[in-house]
Amino acid sequence: MCGRTFDRQRVFLTLLLAAVASGRTPARAADAPRELDPLAPRHWRCIWTENPATVATLSWSTAAAGRQHIVKMAVVDPAPATDQERQRTVAAQHNGRFTGDDLELHYHHARLADLQPGTTYEVTLESDGHASPPLRFTTAPADDRPVSVIFGADSRSGLVERRQMNALMARMAAEARAAGRPPIVALAHGGDYVYDGNELSLWAQWMADHELTAGVDGHLLPIIPARGNHDHGEHFNQVFDFPAGDRNYYAVDVGPQLRWITLNTETVVAGKQTKWLAEQLADARPQYRWVVAQYHRPSFPAVKLPGRGLVHWVPLFEQFNADLVCEGDGHTIKRTPRLRANKIDPTGVPYIGEGGLGVGQRTPNAELWYLRAPDAKVGSDHHLQLLTFDREKLSYRVVLMSGEVFDEHAWPVRPPEQRAVPAVEEETEAPAAQAAFRAPATAKALK
Ligand SMILES: [Fe+2]
Repeated sequence: MCGRTFDRQRVFLTLLLAAVASGRTPARAADAPRELDPLAPRHWRCIWTENPATVATLSWSTAAAGRQHIVKMAVVDPAPATDQERQRTVAAQHNGRFTGDDLELHYHHARLADLQPGTTYEVTLESDGHASPPLRFTTAPADDRPVSVIFGADSRSGLVERRQMNALMARMAAEARAAGRPPIVALAHGGDYVYDGNELSLWAQWMADHELTAGVDGHLLPIIPARGNHDHGEHFNQVFDFPAGDRNYYAVDVGPQLRWITLNTETVVAGKQTKWLAEQLADARPQYRWVVAQYHRPSFPAVKLPGRGLVHWVPLFEQFNADLVCEGDGHTIKRTPRLRANKIDPTGVPYIGEGGLGVGQRTPNAELWYLRAPDAKVGSDHHLQLLTFDREKLSYRVVLMSGEVFDEHAWPVRPPEQRAVPAVEEETEAPAAQAAFRAPATAKALK
């Protein structure tokens, strides 16, 4: 019991530190009593792992099990036409205790379906009548409006910096909303959330810090999670509502023209996963203007050796002309030129990322052939990467913790011939390529 009390105090202290780091001290301090209430909802987050135009998971934690866990929700924008649309209550379908004895903590996942695309909902999370503050989330659009996604990775250490990066995301999302710029609809996190994925207290701290990605108005920034090499174990699944195991690869549509594919470098890369990737790419390429992949261990690393994706996935990215690949793990800033067949090629695939959401930064190897200036850009600083997708281009901007812009680039939309399903090669030995060949064709016209 003493250990649990200590851990609750530690989480509480974490929240106060996070409040200070974010400059939101009054609001956070006002939340303090919830830490003394074992049924006070905390750790709120919105998770996108399936069709985010109409589906989202709202998740939270409590320090005691409780009996009834619900989400009360109402449409706020656009204004609902009927009272029926206005109010809705959904019971959390997936509740349980996080595994591990170091801390008593219970997860609650409300899997919301039949949502309206491009719609903002106001919600409160309730456990046995104990309610969160009012929160908001917005579903992915169904129309072809420009959207932005933040890519970032590696928040496992450097906790003060992690909180500052989270606060930066919240600020950027709020500013985009206020200014009418393309909305920042999600955070794609490329993995390494915590130092040791089997230690629940570290996840509790990460989840508490993640609250800072919500705006001061409680507007949640949905997360599209990928598993990193530090995120081993079942807690990752319990935090993000995945089934038990280590599959953790999936794809979501962020609007009608962006297919976002999340891969898992922390399980078997070849075989089933590579076959699935080939099918995804073959299906998505002709249907979507933008096809993006994310995963943790880089295929074109700036610091370490290449992951297995270099052998199994890169040939598929090139075959199907993926628009962008986002990688983590190196703790540095990276943007390669478009690459194909181990050369710089204007029709190739660019690789960005390497992770800077708090973790200490390393020095990239700027002498590698794919990292040399002026075609590439590398650096070392806490950062996130803002990706904006519109009808003409994919815009890329690296924003440092200070708010300073470190790098900007844009890739034009690929011409139609690069967005068609590739012609079948007569002789191929790659199982992935064979799988792609069998993937279904699509009838949706190129846009
Ligand atoms: Fe890593």
